[in-house]
Amino acid sequence: MRQLRTISAMRGWRGSVSDRLVLVPTMGALHHGHAALIRRARKLAGKNGAVCVSIFVNPTQFGPKEDFSAYPRPLAQDLALCRAEAVDAVFLPKASDMYLPDASVVLQESSLSQTLCGRSREGHFSGVLTVVAKLFLITLPTHAIFGEKDWQQLALIRRMVRDLNMPLEIAGCPTFREPDGLAASSRNAYLTPAERAAAPRIYSSLKKAAALRSIPAALRAARRDLEAISGARVDYIEAVDASTLGPLRNRNSPGRLAAAVYLGKARLIDNIPLPALS
Ligand code: PAF
Repeated sequence: MRQLRTISAMRGWRGSVSDRLVLVPTMGALHHGHAALIRRARKLAGKNGAVCVSIFVNPTQFGPKEDFSAYPRPLAQDLALCRAEAVDAVFLPKASDMYLPDASVVLQESSLSQTLCGRSREGHFSGVLTVVAKLFLITLPTHAIFGEKDWQQLALIRRMVRDLNMPLEIAGCPTFREPDGLAASSRNAYLTPAERAAAPRIYSSLKKAAALRSIPAALRAARRDLEAISGARVDYIEAVDASTLGPLRNRNSPGRLAAAVYLGKARLIDNIPLPALS
């Protein structure tokens, strides 16, 4: 497995890949969910293609009061996971190489980024889109894979690729869940044992609510159940159109029921499908 620590090393290695290159962008602190993304990437790459995992804790997607410095960085463990998953190359750029001190160009999206997490995390999606576009331009992948847990991020990246005619395909990977239903996330590491025991109730509340036909009834039920979790503060619970992320007004088209909940030091997000009803 190659460890590529500079942009020019990455570009040099890229030149040696003649078949598909599947990129798995991450911020490290890799867990079972990332392993599932890497396995999916391996399948997409086929036997002659290559898989590259990027590990970069992107400062520009964290707000001033968010957890950039506390974000876990267990590099040795991350590299071991990548090796075990037969990743071909890991791209580990430095922040000073990714962002020059006088960098002045960023990407802004004006529709899908205005809802859900965009309301409480100002500037977050501009940071995500800018770094993902930079990673695409540096690594030139034919495909890139993102998890459906970050549904809004996935929708935004698809929109960016569409609107800027980026020449690659985006694949989504279903949320990897722990046996008790909690969506795998690097931020689960912030939970105390009591919070960790309560956290699966986010998924069970969403599932119970999604079984109701009426959208307002589903939202009421989910809010009530989420607010009943001890120590939890609901940031949002919303039913949105699966691709535009606008409010879901009826069940004629596919939607997502999405929530963000603060639990202790962690802000946990999750979402599940609201299939169209005939
Ligand atoms: O989902 C993440 O881990 C990050 O937002 C991403 C896509 C790697 C960009 O920094």
